[in-house]
Amino acid sequence: MTGIEVPSAVIEVARSARSVAVLTGAGVSAESGVPTFRDAQTGLWSNFDPADLASPEGWARDSDLVWGWYQWRAQLVRRSEPNAGHLALTEWQQRVHLDIATQNVDDLHERAGSTVIAHVHGSLFDPRCSECGLHSQPEPDPFDERSDRVPPPSCPDCGGEMRPGAVWFGEPLPETEWTAAVEAVESADLVLVVGTSGVVFPFAGLPAMARSTGATVVEINPVETEISDMADFRWRTTAATGLPALVDSLR
Ligand code: OAD
Repeated sequence: MTGIEVPSAVIEVARSARSVAVLTGAGVSAESGVPTFRDAQTGLWSNFDPADLASPEGWARDSDLVWGWYQWRAQLVRRSEPNAGHLALTEWQQRVHLDIATQNVDDLHERAGSTVIAHVHGSLFDPRCSECGLHSQPEPDPFDERSDRVPPPSCPDCGGEMRPGAVWFGEPLPETEWTAAVEAVESADLVLVVGTSGVVFPFAGLPAMARSTGATVVEINPVETEISDMADFRWRTTAATGLPALVDSLR
């Protein structure tokens, strides 16, 4: 037992749910040591303008800076471990039908043993050629902590520049992943929204979609967010505290 009190209403809906969809954002990985995007002190973007880094325009302007930034993030994730929140979802997934759709470009859900049906914003570990689209995993660059610029490697097929496998601002979401996320929400009777500020659409629209299809929406987040109003229950706790306590309480 974790000794954390789980709101009884949350236990009740979780117990009766036959199909669960869990929508995650950067907060689920925060306790693994991966900074969230919008944390004022430690956010990955506190020193940079995200538009310079995560946009087609930024890439056109300075691909070495953008590739270097993604390499830095990939290295940070490689050195991090899944936390108790990721692990609790894995355990829960072994007991009920539970779909995980994430905005995160890390692989911590998978490394915890979960199956993820959708990485709607792509992956740090799936770069592709910016010209011919070939997916190829180059050897990780020996990362130089003193430099934030790393020239992107060349495509082994056409010689074009490899680009990060993340979705950038202004780009469409990968269709298969988005469809999978929508279907998970539409078929769920419980939608648990964990660790997202709910400001980036279309993902931020999923809780409203869940409400309109009759699912119960539970938010796990230490603070109020843009989508808190969409939740039937708002549980102010962290992912690595709340999720294990919830899963334990369902035994
Ligand atoms: P944000 O950084 O916007 O929000 C992180 C959320 O996690 C905040 O609401 C925090 O309160 C919450 N949080 C922090 N620590 C937590 C913890 N230990 N447990 C639970 N919650 C915690 O991250 P996202 O909402 O994921 O997209 O950002 C969405 C998208 O914005 C990203 O996928 C990225 C960015 O633009 C792209 O790169 C396309």
